[in-house]
Amino acid sequence: MKKPSAARRYASQLKQKMPQPADQPPKEHVLGSVRLFPGETAIPMPDLRLRGTVGPPGAFDDVALTTIGRMNMAGLRPDHDVLDIGCGVGRTARYLCDYLGGEAHYEGFDITEEGIVWCQNNITPMFPNFQFRYVPLTNSHYTPDQVLPAAADFEFPYPDQSFDFVFAHSVFTHLLVDVTTRYLREIARVLRPGGISYSTWFLFGEDSSPYANPIVGEMHPDPSGDFAFYNPEVPETAVGYRNTFVRQTLSTCGLSVVEPIHPGYSRLQDVIVTTK
Ligand SMILES: C[S@@+](CC[C@H](N)C(=O)[O-])C[C@H]1O[C@@H](n2cnc3c(N)ncnc32)[C@H](O)[C@@H]1O
Repeated sequence: MKKPSAARRYASQLKQKMPQPADQPPKEHVLGSVRLFPGETAIPMPDLRLRGTVGPPGAFDDVALTTIGRMNMAGLRPDHDVLDIGCGVGRTARYLCDYLGGEAHYEGFDITEEGIVWCQNNITPMFPNFQFRYVPLTNSHYTPDQVLPAAADFEFPYPDQSFDFVFAHSVFTHLLVDVTTRYLREIARVLRPGGISYSTWFLFGEDSSPYANPIVGEMHPDPSGDFAFYNPEVPETAVGYRNTFVRQTLSTCGLSVVEPIHPGYSRLQDVIVTTK
């Protein structure tokens, strides 16, 4: 039988139809006698199904640790006030509990109530400087069949210039163009001068990387050519963007790309770092 392509496997993971590994107890993260992540180890692990709401459960920790490493290289520092757009079930937040100092403030928001409630119940009591907020907004993949406000009109519930570092991991890969434009403008608004944004994308276009995630090659371009959908019937399953369009929109919002854009290297997503 013909094997499904990597992109199809990825899409079905998104739909959580792949056979999932057995649930695992939390890892200990011990290197020699040094406990690397005492905070993370103390936080309970969301169950298999909940971990599956943000990607393949078997890659839960690996994705988070790769993200932390890439954000560190992008300039994240332990004293930064951080905003996590589309924080899900706290996959990255749980490791940031060890990375950020007690004086730093973390805010995460998401349109999926279940993940936010889990974080509020399991992370905030131990780390009160970590706050999570549910924002009911429409998305054809994550909140289908619900009559909810449009994300394209959403104003982030934070004052101007309140964060040093804003990130969105695997979120713009699920946003339509009007929402993306709005969110980039909001990122620029809530960042302090000199602040950093870190976001991941499925990028395509003339100078895009040969290492792009294979899902990009199977996307259907919109007639504008600026973006593309993996599944036009449920467009927010996975959305790709033309790199020149993203660069232009970032520039319009007052966000300067820190070159180069980092390619996704096969299974990961492309990373764009900007400064304000
Ligand atoms: C692939 S998951 C990634 C979650 C998290 N960033 C992580 O890396 O674990 C995509 C997340 O984006 C959230 N999302 C989708 N549309 C959103 C929107 N308009 N605003 C905020 N979050 C959104 C989904 O609910 C989901 O939790």
